[in-house]
Amino acid sequence: MNPHKNPFSPGAGTPPPELAGRDAILTQADLLLSRVLAGRSEKSFLAVGLRGVGKTVLLNDMQRRAESVGYRSLIVECHDGKSLAALLAPGMRQILFALDSMAAVSEKTRRGLAVLKSFLSSLKVTIADIEFGINPERGTADSGNIEIDLPDLFVAVGEAAKDRNVGIAILIDELQYLAPNEFSALIMAMHRMAQKSLPIVLFGAGLPQIPALAGDSKSYAERLFDFPDVGPLSDAEARRALVEPVGKAGVNFTEESLVEIIRMTEGYPYFLQEWGYHSWNVAPMSPIDLTSVKAANELAVARLDKAFFRVRYDRLSDREREYMRALAELGPGVHRSGEVAKVLQGKVNEFGTVRDGLIKKGMIYSREYGSVAFTVPLFDQFMRRTMPDKPVPWNRKKKHAHPARK
Ligand SMILES: Nc1ncnc2c1ncn2[C@@H]1O[C@H](COP(=O)(O)OP(=O)(O)O)[C@@H](O)[C@H]1O
Ligand SMILES: [Mg+2]
Repeated sequence: MNPHKNPFSPGAGTPPPELAGRDAILTQADLLLSRVLAGRSEKSFLAVGLRGVGKTVLLNDMQRRAESVGYRSLIVECHDGKSLAALLAPGMRQILFALDSMAAVSEKTRRGLAVLKSFLSSLKVTIADIEFGINPERGTADSGNIEIDLPDLFVAVGEAAKDRNVGIAILIDELQYLAPNEFSALIMAMHRMAQKSLPIVLFGAGLPQIPALAGDSKSYAERLFDFPDVGPLSDAEARRALVEPVGKAGVNFTEESLVEIIRMTEGYPYFLQEWGYHSWNVAPMSPIDLTSVKAANELAVARLDKAFFRVRYDRLSDREREYMRALAELGPGVHRSGEVAKVLQGKVNEFGTVRDGLIKKGMIYSREYGSVAFTVPLFDQFMRRTMPDKPVPWNRKKKHAHPARK
């Protein structure tokens, strides 16, 4: 059928034609927004899930909702090598400037800018065009320790917002890349917001290890945040994600073609978009039938192997690939790292460095001590397709890999 009219939208953060199965979390977001703006307390939330389940899409939707009910917002994406302070500062400044221009100069907003300035200089953050023409406020947010300074900054900004009767929504994607002290700074900052009833809400998203990242601040974190699981769609939701978009163009799926797509995608949103997309293009006419979906299977798998899976695989060292291949041998889901070590015929501690490196790269996660799982759904199948041979035990290769080791 006409590819120009194809309603599906595979891609990172691309809004889907039908946002299926997320009503509960969005209703909760609306409640949070209205309560906090009214000076009541409510838990912020950090959505947790594998890659391609729709976390970024959710954050974008929440930002839109926040703005529509009177919030100013800033959205950032964490990555290795950029500090949280540097990520948040430009958006904070923009919000303060916007607050400042709303009416006659507000003392609180000026103070917010002064505190932001000391925050920036103490954490050695530079942002382009830094001059505000305001002197930093001594003694606030200038300790150089983000766990102290970020809460100070949030208080100053929160007070400015309250003064103007607006809320501030801070949206942070890929939270798993935060350093532990940054994550804890964020928790402390939100703790102060709750204590002082200041109108700042936090929406975060990240891979399944984020609740564990809370570490020492864990008990705070559990009181301040919900950690809703964003997962694959149920059978009924997956059907909706497929049927609704094509229905608008007067197109149907046959029952058996729906069953096949759901079997192949396991209900994962990204894959549903990919399969929907190819099925539409391949099908000669409505209804989209099983023959078309079978043809789409090949196209979708080939495209995933070339892009979604491949870009991640390409970032791995040989050792990391071997470890991933061994994990794939155990099938989908969560496994003990001891089991992976067994596949490689070694001891768990021999693989610690490789395992940590893979966690840091966001390829695997460990929710409980000693467990590992892929962060990308269906990655086990990809690894078996890409490295069809059984994983090779490391002890047999050691001599070649580390000739100098005693
Ligand atoms: N609820 C949903 N229903 C259908 N498709 C969705 C849904 N949420 C996300 N998608 C699709 O899934 C893909 C991945 O979404 P994204 O937000 O980038 O995932 P994540 O941030 O979790 O990796 C996008 O193509 C998007 O259109
Ligand atoms: Mg994302």
